[in-house]
Amino acid sequence: MKKTYLLLMALLAVAVYGCTNKEAVAPDTGPQTGNCDAKQIPAAYVYGIVQSTCLGCHSGSTAPLGADFSTLEKFKGFISNNETVFRLRVTSPQADMPQGGTLSAGVRDSISCWISKGMPE
Ligand code: HEC
Repeated sequence: MKKTYLLLMALLAVAVYGCTNKEAVAPDTGPQTGNCDAKQIPAAYVYGIVQSTCLGCHSGSTAPLGADFSTLEKFKGFISNNETVFRLRVTSPQADMPQGGTLSAGVRDSISCWISKGMPE
């Protein structure tokens, strides 16, 4: 009886430890610098960056994975439906878009704040 009890306690300890193990840290997808409250980011600023750095690939029927940003509405629609993926690929420290380079940290933060504020005009 005592042996069974000890075994159960050991299993419980393993289970609790497993659940609180912090090894798998969630990716940081928020702004890296600055404070969103102080930033007024207009859609035109963000979409201007998209037009000059993304549309070469992300436009029309050939857009990769259907990520078509050819109008502001389509761009906002994509973010609304895929916010986690967008932040990971574009505004996080581990961002890998635009392909072949990344945006500066300041620009990434500005886009991140704009999304956090609900993508205002
Ligand atoms: C040189 C071409 C190229 C440019 C420029 C480019 N991308 Fe991409 N992008 C791709 C390709 C190809 C994929 C699909 C393959 C992959 O996931 O890596 C992709 C995937 C993505 C995805 C993931 C889509 C999904 O549904 O999983 C996002 C978000 C994205 N790009 C955003 C951007 C943004 C924002 C820019 C501009 C700042 C940009 N990309 C610039 C080629 C490009």
